Formats: sequence, C-alpha cells, structure tokens
Amino acid sequence: MKFRFLTSGESHGKCLNAIIDGVPSNFEINEDFINNELYQRQQGIGRGGRMKIEHDKIIINSGVRHGLTLGSPICLGIINNDFKNWEVEMNPKIQDNTYENSQKIQSKYISEVRPGHADFSGALKYNHKDIRNILERSSARETAIRTAIGAIAQLILKPFNIFFENQIIEIGGVDFKEKEKLLELIDYTREKGDTLGGKFKITIKNVPIGLGSYVHWDKKLDALLAYAIMSIGGVKSVEFGLGHNVANTFGSKTHDEIFYENNKIIRNTNNAGGIEGGMSNGEDIIIYASMKAIPTLKKPLNSIDLNSKKNVKAHFERSDVCAVESCSIVAKNMAAIIIAQQFLEKFGGDSLFEINQNYNSYMDQITL
Ligand SMILES: Cc1cc2nc3c(=O)[nH]c(=O)nc-3n(C[C@H](O)[C@H](O)[C@H](O)COP(=O)(O)O)c2cc1C
Repeated sequence: MKFRFLTSGESHGKCLNAIIDGVPSNFEINEDFINNELYQRQQGIGRGGRMKIEHDKIIINSGVRHGLTLGSPICLGIINNDFKNWEVEMNPKIQDNTYENSQKIQSKYISEVRPGHADFSGALKYNHKDIRNILERSSARETAIRTAIGAIAQLILKPFNIFFENQIIEIGGVDFKEKEKLLELIDYTREKGDTLGGKFKITIKNVPIGLGSYVHWDKKLDALLAYAIMSIGGVKSVEFGLGHNVANTFGSKTHDEIFYENNKIIRNTNNAGGIEGGMSNGEDIIIYASMKAIPTLKKPLNSIDLNSKKNVKAHFERSDVCAVESCSIVAKNMAAIIIAQQFLEKFGGDSLFEINQNYNSYMDQITL
C-alpha cells in the first residue's frame, strides 16, 4: 500500500517519531505548513498546562531534499520539551531550571486506574504494575506526530486542489458560536474539577469521483475514514452527511437527486456527505464526530487500586478540561492520510509527474 506509516514515542519520552513509506518524489514539503498544523493542534479552549511547555516543531530527518520529497522513506521527529522536566523529577540530582516551569508530574508508581482510559485493561493485558507504563503511550500526545503525517498528506493532495476544513459545532451541549456562554461553561467545569466533550465537523473539498471502492468491505471510503477518525483517543462517533438522522428520514428526503444542467451533472443536496457505495461522488465529503469528556478529572472518579486492591480515587495528573478543538485538527489530518492513501492507490506512480498524468487522464475519462 502507498503511504504507510508507523509512529513511536511516549508522552514524556525524549521524542515522538514516525517513518512514512510510499511518498512519491517531487512533492513540495513546506515545514511552515506542518508546524502550523502542529500549532493549531495545541490551541483551543480548555487545554491544560502541558501545552504551555510544548512548542511543537517538526524535525525532518530523511526523505526530503531542498524542500522536495525524494521518494525514499520520510523520517519525522517532534521533541518533547517536558522530557527534561520529567528527567529532573525522576532524578533530583540533575539541576535544570526548566523544572520551575513544570507542574508536578507524579513520577511515582501509579496503581490507581482512571476510568475512561487505557489504564485498566492495559495494565492487565501487558502485565504492568505501574500504570505510567500504559498512560505514556496511550496518551493523546501521540496525535502530535500523526498531525505532522497528516500535514504531509495534505501537501501531497495540494497540487490537486483537495483541501480540508475543520469546524467546531458544540462543546458540552453549548453552540460553539456562543463564545461567552462557552467560556463560562469552561470556567465552571474547571472550578468543579470536571471535564467536557463536544462535536466537530470535517469538510473535504475537491475529492475526485471514485476514491475508495464498493468491491470489498475494506476498500470503502466511508469505512476507512471512520476507522481513522475513531482511532483518535476520545472519539466515540463518526457520521457522514445526514448521519444518525437517516434513521428517521424518508428516502425522498435522504437521497441526493441528480440532474444534468448545462451539460454538467449537479445535485441540490448533499445528505450522503459526498460518499455513496463506499466511493467519493464528487460532492464535498462531510464528516461529523463526537468526542467524549476528558477522562482525567481534577475531582477524581471512584476507582480501584490494582496494587492495594482497595477502592480509591482515580489517579490525577495535569490534564485538559476540554480538547475538542485540538481533536478536530487531529481528525482533519487523519482524514487527509486516508484521502492521500486512496488518491495514491488510484493515481499511483513514483513521481508527481507520473501521478499528474494518471490523474489528468482519469479526469478526461470521467468528463466524456
Ligand atoms: C488532542 C487530545 C487531547 C487530549 N487530552 C487529554 C488530557 O489532557 N487528559 C486526558 O485524560 N485525556 C485526554 N484526551 C483523551 C484521551 O486521549 C482519551 O479519552 C483516551 O485515549 C481514551 O479514549 P478511548 O476510550 O476513546 O480510546 C485527549 C484526546 C485528544 C484527541
């Protein structure tokens, strides 16, 4: 498969890493664009103290020369600034004034699991006594490197004018446009030691007709996009177009009628969200996703201690109150990865030139 990747790295480890394979040659890689996506992922209301420490910047270790892809594997890295602070905490003999900036990360042995996280099943499955061994990798910090990979996917799709937008719909039931009410809700939630989730929308524009396929279950574009977005920690629903409302809508109001107008094919509605039969149909791809409230609560939930085997309060460490905006940036970039994979599968070649030829010839074929 084209555009495969693997990530590694722990939340407070030295760095996050990725190797991407299958990126054709001569695509422009703009580091500022990648860094801007990383910056956007760190923004939003309700974010916690960690984001004051991290100023994510991409390091491109291989596969790019003079700003263009070589066709060889691309190796990416993002340094975790908090690693230094963490090391100090682990070994107080190390003198480092950046520690002053760090809130207290509890590097002690953790055995109080947090409901809603990977802690419980992860500790039992991997036979770890210290839950830090689970939470370091299950943390959403890993989504920073996935965002960088998605930014590269966006850059591959840019010459074909395919682009991505994210929009927040609501947080904790409050319309995102009602800024004042929303900030009040965030403050109230933070004071109570509680957390929030929300809903967002991803729009993908100019996707050519026919990405994905109906011939096998695992080639369906909506299924692939849902998988990718559902893989982001905290996402609990992914919908296309009319989404769950299809359950109570007549067929006449569900399906998007097709017309010829001035020798062009047009539709007046897009309830399908741009995907029919597992393939893009040329309309905007519209995805809605919901994120659950953050599971690490300052006023901790009731839970258990796997070591003492007692009922306790769940572990707490520095955490976000709400990360819906950030999650939408990750989702946008996960969607870009899927669209780039499917685009390269359809128009594949080893260079931008070859892909351009395949793309243009297909576009001629479908406009006959
Ligand atoms: C961008 C982003 C930031 C997050 N920040 C936090 C956080 O600070 N604290 C926390 O407990 N969970 C945070 N989460 C949510 C957890 O990662 C998520 O709830 C956890 O991985 C379990 O999700 P799952 O049950 O859907 O797999 C964040 C998620 C995302 C996408």
